Amino acid sequence: MPMSALPSSFQAFRIHNDEEGFRANWEPQSIDEQTSGDVVIEVHYSSVNYKDALAGTNRGKILRRFPLNGGIDVAGVVLASESDRFAIGDSVLMTGSGLSETKDGGYSEYLRVSSEFLVPLPTNLTLHESMIIGTAGFTAALALSRMEANGQTPEMGPIAVTGATGGVGSLAIDIFTKAGYQVSAITGKTEAFDWLHSLGAAQCIDRHGLYWPESPLASAQFAGALDNVGGDMLNGLTRVIRPWGNIASCGMAASMGLNTTVMPFIIRGVSLLGINSAGCPYSLRASIWDKLANDWRPNHLASIHTKTIGPDELKDAFEALIDGTNQGRIVVDLRPQPPTRKKTTKKRVAKKKATRKKAAQKKANQTKEKTS
Ligand SMILES: NC(=O)c1ccc[n+]([C@@H]2O[C@H](COP(=O)([O-])OP(=O)(O)OC[C@H]3O[C@@H](n4cnc5c(N)ncnc54)[C@H](OP(=O)(O)O)[C@@H]3O)[C@@H](O)[C@H]2O)c1
Repeated sequence: MPMSALPSSFQAFRIHNDEEGFRANWEPQSIDEQTSGDVVIEVHYSSVNYKDALAGTNRGKILRRFPLNGGIDVAGVVLASESDRFAIGDSVLMTGSGLSETKDGGYSEYLRVSSEFLVPLPTNLTLHESMIIGTAGFTAALALSRMEANGQTPEMGPIAVTGATGGVGSLAIDIFTKAGYQVSAITGKTEAFDWLHSLGAAQCIDRHGLYWPESPLASAQFAGALDNVGGDMLNGLTRVIRPWGNIASCGMAASMGLNTTVMPFIIRGVSLLGINSAGCPYSLRASIWDKLANDWRPNHLASIHTKTIGPDELKDAFEALIDGTNQGRIVVDLRPQPPTRKKTTKKRVAKKKATRKKAAQKKANQTKEKTS
């Protein structure tokens, strides 16, 4: 597609915070208003992550400058490129890497990005599938990669996954199970137990019924953990991990606090691994996407895909993530919407009505002329 296909104005979800206060809405934008880059993408899809919900509702400090377009994920087709690595028509994706933090993000019909962080779409994934995975699946896979690099193996025993019904949690269950691990899903949604089992969870635990002993070390139940929750949950997990196990600290859906002791680390050799998907170096990023498209390709993408929404539904999706009621992954469709059949029919009916009215008016005028 030539650059001439780029419209002078398109829609983007812009987040402002200035003397007029915080506001985030879809508004017209031109490519020159966006942060710099050497590749322009025609955006097809983005997704909704917890971080997007925080940024889009002003519930968390995500953007480091204003205004910026929201959306930490993007997938689309190259429309123009000054990079040797990408050509017009290439399918590409980008997650994190400063999107909606220091650079304009993926909630935009067109996006200018730096090729430095752009990943060619792996052959085994469609653009839509890549956004079901998005930052959430990338984070789960990065956690597994770091845990294994630090000695975790399936033979050591079960892995606890907290925030299990969320984006990172549900994809972690799928990915860890595929990699041969037995997963214990910890969730606040007991009604989702069947769904979590269907994704591969061997055990489901109601987080509201969890009891963590006060002692620094308690009976070791898990060989490792991926934690999306932080606070008391992460504190409790440090006490119940088997010797030499790893805890991947991914999120803080409950709290950013951590109150524990050094005992699990110095007596059991437990490791606490920090997971930072946004800043992951490019070579590791590319190899993780390769794993996600092959060995660790999630088996249950269709079931984890909650829905694909249009731009108008974005704010409702943010609220579902903020209040913890979301289950799975939401994709945002940013392709220009073709006029629906309904609209075309409506237009045709309106046109016919107008023609009929005109003809009736003409006839009435003629009759009037004859009678006068
Ligand atoms: N480190 C990174 O690079 C990285 C990347 C992506 C995401 N994250 C973080 O990881 C976390 C999950 O992200 P996500 O996109 O998967 O979000 P999500 O889809 O909203 O999932 C979060 C899940 O956490 C659980 N939860 C929510 N509030 C809770 C509370 N007060 N106490 C205990 N559990 C609670 C819920 O699962 P249940 O109802 O099943 O318990 C919820 O579905 C977020 O904190 C996000 O910021 C970090």
